[in-house]
Amino acid sequence: MSKKASIGVTGLAVMGRNLARNLARHGHTVALHNRSEQRTRELVEQFGDEGDFIPTYSAQEFVDALDRPRQIVIMVKAGAPTDAVIEEFAPLLEPGDVIVDAGNAHFADTRRREAALRERGLHFVGTGVSGGEEGALHGPSIMPGGSKESYESLGPLFEDISAKVDGAPCCTHIGPDGAGHFVKMVHNGIEYADMQLIAESFDLLRGALGYEPAQIAEVFRTWNTGRLDSYLIEITAEVLAHTDAATGKPFVDIVTDQAEQKGTGRWTVQIGLDLGVPISGIAEAVFARSLSGSAGLRAASRGLPGPTRVPIADATGFADDVERALYASKIVAYAQGFNQIQAGGAEYGWDIDLGAVAKIWRGGCIIRAKFLDDVTAAFSAEPGLPTLLTSGDFRKAVEDAQDAWRSVVATAVKLGIPTPGFSTALAYYDALRAERLPAALVQGQRDYFGAHTYRRVDREGSFHTAWATPERAEHPA
Ligand code: 6PG
Repeated sequence: MSKKASIGVTGLAVMGRNLARNLARHGHTVALHNRSEQRTRELVEQFGDEGDFIPTYSAQEFVDALDRPRQIVIMVKAGAPTDAVIEEFAPLLEPGDVIVDAGNAHFADTRRREAALRERGLHFVGTGVSGGEEGALHGPSIMPGGSKESYESLGPLFEDISAKVDGAPCCTHIGPDGAGHFVKMVHNGIEYADMQLIAESFDLLRGALGYEPAQIAEVFRTWNTGRLDSYLIEITAEVLAHTDAATGKPFVDIVTDQAEQKGTGRWTVQIGLDLGVPISGIAEAVFARSLSGSAGLRAASRGLPGPTRVPIADATGFADDVERALYASKIVAYAQGFNQIQAGGAEYGWDIDLGAVAKIWRGGCIIRAKFLDDVTAAFSAEPGLPTLLTSGDFRKAVEDAQDAWRSVVATAVKLGIPTPGFSTALAYYDALRAERLPAALVQGQRDYFGAHTYRRVDREGSFHTAWATPERAEHPA
């Protein structure tokens, strides 16, 4: 009997191909399958010498090539194609076998699929994989959900191929059913917020100081040597330093200013609304992309009046302030994202270790950053931390950033430079720390027009005031 594969990958477009190669490069025998045979052949032709591959050309052949429990990684388009592939393989599998969906699936789909396959005795593992093509090949951050049992066989393989930071793998069992895809979704939401804040910083340095993109690239390079050290800052500097070969102009000036989105950021916001978690930083980032793409609306509004732009005297001082505002706003965005994971965990009965999530985001993924060392430490020290903002180092950082943060937002407002990310982060921060919020008045308004009742600060129970009567008497509701 010839050697069997410890894992199989079906769907050999670039992400699937790179994951398969990564597994093989780590000494695992990998069965290969793809809807069209061509991709399978190409992979073996081009990269066959990287490890042990077993190319297969039918679903049955693929399943037969696998050791038990069989572990099949599906890497196809999220949605209907994923369901189709599951239905192709599930009937050929036996109880205890594992199907992994490593695409960017919606966690609700993952919950549905997991429940259905569990009924059939199969493990379904929705797995977040971050890091793009390069990450898939050289070490992504991996966020598997599904049963504990499935992680026993799958975990060692995934930990092996994941990125490593200080020797620790960027992979951990997140929690049951859809927990892995949920956490990947929030990762992407945070990714949107992080990108938006960086983009606003660029816009401020250019709009307020008149810096050229290449100059701003240098500023970002400097920032990348400090507490903002991160993959996104690093690539931002690269993009800004790039000159378009055809025109000789800065690359950033020849790209249309309409950002696209595949949908994971939007999902994060939709779920944030459902869970009632204020993730305003992520929401503003998604809306900023939508606004950028509203071409007709923007064209119609272009002539609207704005303020006169007064030049800023202390350019270096302002740039330093933007760094502080960016750091403080980033803390808010992550605080909100982690609160969403907390809320999702409570809603769906997942026991998610936030410190472990921060730890596996330190490497491999798009939001990887030095900052995540501190986030990991904060949640490890206090697993029930209500918000990152109150944890020692972050509290100190926002305290130190106070004046700069406010002055940058005020300057942006004065100059008419849109900074929805910075502004909402600061508003969220001020709302959290407020002794009293005007929500009390909103409760009064609701009771007035709809008898929706209110609670009092000094007594238990719900109350209603008879607003339409001259006495305006209060009654327990
Ligand atoms: C990752 C990325 C990856 C992808 C997203 C975002 O973690 O590797 O988040 O999943 O880049 O699809 O893309 P959009 O900006 O198009 O939503």
